[in-house]
Amino acid sequence: MANLELKGIRKSFGTVEVVKGIDLTIEHGEFVVFVGPSGCGKSTLLRLIAGLEDITGGDMWIGGERVNDLPPAKRGISMVFQSYALYPHMTVYQNMAFGLKLAKTDPRTIDDAIQEAARMLQLEPLLERLPKQLSGGQRQRVAIGRAIVRNPKVFLLDEPLSNLDAALRVQTRLEIARLQKRMNTTSVYVTHDQVEAMTLADKVVVLHDGVLEQCGPPLELYHHPANKFVAGFIGSPQMNFLKITADRIDGRTLRCNMPGGNTLDLAVEQGVGARFAETLGIRPEHLRLADPETAPIKGEIAVVERFGESELAYVRTPDGQSVVVRLQGGAGARIGTKVGLVPLDEETHLFGPDEKAIPRPRGV
Ligand SMILES: Nc1ncnc2c1ncn2[C@@H]1O[C@H](COP(=O)(O)OP(=O)(O)OP(=O)(O)O)[C@@H](O)[C@H]1O
Ligand SMILES: [Mg+2]
Repeated sequence: MANLELKGIRKSFGTVEVVKGIDLTIEHGEFVVFVGPSGCGKSTLLRLIAGLEDITGGDMWIGGERVNDLPPAKRGISMVFQSYALYPHMTVYQNMAFGLKLAKTDPRTIDDAIQEAARMLQLEPLLERLPKQLSGGQRQRVAIGRAIVRNPKVFLLDEPLSNLDAALRVQTRLEIARLQKRMNTTSVYVTHDQVEAMTLADKVVVLHDGVLEQCGPPLELYHHPANKFVAGFIGSPQMNFLKITADRIDGRTLRCNMPGGNTLDLAVEQGVGARFAETLGIRPEHLRLADPETAPIKGEIAVVERFGESELAYVRTPDGQSVVVRLQGGAGARIGTKVGLVPLDEETHLFGPDEKAIPRPRGV
């Protein structure tokens, strides 16, 4: 077990900088998930932690030891890759034993570690099989087993579920969550699936173009995104963004001029006056239907998607913007109906021209 500290970490390939100064502290036993769009630098950052790539700038400590120049084998980490390469000619048992044998661990200790990992991962009946005799999910569990038998200080996983089908992903996700709680090993997990990030993480790190956009507990990011990028990335369907203008009413209130001519007064923190709100953000699940005459948002339903337990209505505002609202299943939304929408006040976000969230008082 170890904590992990990154200070100003940078990585360039040639002249292209792909990790642009990351500061991050990961505590003992914490499960941290890196999430972000393809190419944002998640795998690179993980490989920097593993020591598989040299850092271009900054400093890194694992368990208090500066590891900038420490080779991967000396860092006390185990890594599970997206394409888990098992040795095809070795059994599950031999695959799991391989790293420990190389490290000259005694056979009794190896056997104990494998039996324990096999129990946790339900691999006991499969230990004598070859990889080709396993399903994709079973192979992935072997790859995870191979990593945990080494009893690492830090466990790194790069999209370990991406080769699995939907049902197996959910099942393996739950297994990983259970396993991590039980082992209490500091873990860094990379995914571009925000559901995995939300369900697994103690702390989510949102990366975008080599920059850390926000880091915090999953629900903190959901309820209080620091900027428009995080607001749009976390949550599905994505948060609605409406172009608005705003006038100051007093030191703590902005009056938003909504599409269609109605207004909405929102409390903001004192002293944000210099930054004008130009985008209002509201999630589909935080809107309710109301009278179009008075509701802050009004429009006409253009499309309806029915999922059984819920419905999504795509509402077109008079100025041509689109707002998605999540309704209960059986709400019977009809195309062409004129509706009004009221945003839940404490879940309404304002963003300035720099795309940063304009601070609003919490618990309003
Ligand atoms: N060895 C390399 N040489 C040059 N460029 C690289 C190298 N490895 C990665 N890159 C570039 O660095 C950027 C970040 O890549 P990285 O693999 O970290 O992205 P990612 O966030 O893991 O994406 P994905 O979700 O697709 O796996 C990309 O633009 C990629 O093309
Ligand atoms: Mg990657």
